[in-house]
Amino acid sequence: MTDLSMAHSSGQQTSEHLPAAAPLDVAAIRRDFPILEQKVNGKSLVYLDNGASAQKPQVVLEAMDRYYREQHSNVHRGAHTLGDRATAAFEGARETVRAFLNAASTREIVWTRGTTEAINLVANGLTAKLSAGDEILISHMEHHANIVPWQMLAERSGATLKVIAVTPEGELDLDSFDQQLSERTRILAVTHVSNVLGTVNPVAELVAKAKAVGALTLLDGAQAVPHYRPDVQALGCDFYVFSSHKLFGPTGIGVLYGREQLLEELPPYQFGGEMIERVSFAKTTWNTLPYKFEAGTPAIAEAVGLGAAIDYLNGLDRRAIEAAEQTLLAKANGLVDSIPGMAVIGTARHKVPVMSFKIDGLHPSDIGTLLDQQGIAIRTGHHCAMPLMDFYGVPGTARASFAFYNTLEEVDQLFAALQKIQRLFV
Ligand code: ALA
Repeated sequence: MTDLSMAHSSGQQTSEHLPAAAPLDVAAIRRDFPILEQKVNGKSLVYLDNGASAQKPQVVLEAMDRYYREQHSNVHRGAHTLGDRATAAFEGARETVRAFLNAASTREIVWTRGTTEAINLVANGLTAKLSAGDEILISHMEHHANIVPWQMLAERSGATLKVIAVTPEGELDLDSFDQQLSERTRILAVTHVSNVLGTVNPVAELVAKAKAVGALTLLDGAQAVPHYRPDVQALGCDFYVFSSHKLFGPTGIGVLYGREQLLEELPPYQFGGEMIERVSFAKTTWNTLPYKFEAGTPAIAEAVGLGAAIDYLNGLDRRAIEAAEQTLLAKANGLVDSIPGMAVIGTARHKVPVMSFKIDGLHPSDIGTLLDQQGIAIRTGHHCAMPLMDFYGVPGTARASFAFYNTLEEVDQLFAALQKIQRLFV
């Protein structure tokens, strides 16, 4: 994992500032992920659907198990020892996330159910700040979760939704960005890394330009955090969101980072429980940050699990991970020509190890089913990015998305399986 603050100030995906690394011991790492050991359809599992959801190391499973066995009670209600233990574990995980993002304070770290809820929370909260004539700027490569909440905000407020174009290679068209950004832009919401294309966007540059016209900025980090470690202060963004389950943590929890002053200004998203300071029938007041946005009993064990996932990642050599991931991607790219009629969608210069592709004569969903029969898991379909599918004129793609626990042999297995499918079905 690379610290992207420096990487993106130059628009480069680089880890030059980190010390040189020994190669990653992938065999040892794989032993940390029990699910990878199994057979699927009689074949050793080859899990290449990490972009949809990553697998969990043993330490995450153990942390959640230990939490339920030894620490569980409700949080912040502390009249007894278990309540104190649960609160300490829960708030400890928040501090782990704060450090992971280099946020200034845990008041800026809000637990959500995931990336989607985090974006909805912000888009809802900004309703009163927008009016007719204002503009919201997103890009053509966004996931539906970073399109529709803004579309709905535009409908509610009378603002206009504008879209940054994408190049055929799958990079953001920076001329289009410069043309669309204006004094009327109130919000820039873009993905840090595309879930379909793998493109790493030059987000620090985009944020700096957006701030210069007075716009607020939100970065969708769902696909970035499994590969890189963002520094929200260096990036300069107002909001940064991600999901735990793509970061080797449990499902059901995610993170909204927001600049403290802005979170203070935003109204609550849901009401009840944790987010209350005082209720009377005449008037209700809100808890302080970050609890103002955390209605109801939170996902406590999941927070603990996410903290354990980040601790696990912190124990790995980030530069070695990046090198291993890029080697997987390069190997896959090098094998594309071995499959006649195969084309990669998304050939940006700076990519995470995600390969969307199509093969002449084969429907993406058939590719997925036939690979599954050979024990290989990929994702197929529109990837919740229908406007991007329309741009490329395809109903969907097949997508192999790699993690640092994948091996070069698994890349070979993918391509051998694709060759077999092609021999039998095309
Ligand atoms: N957004 C996730 C993906 O790209 C689910 O697969």
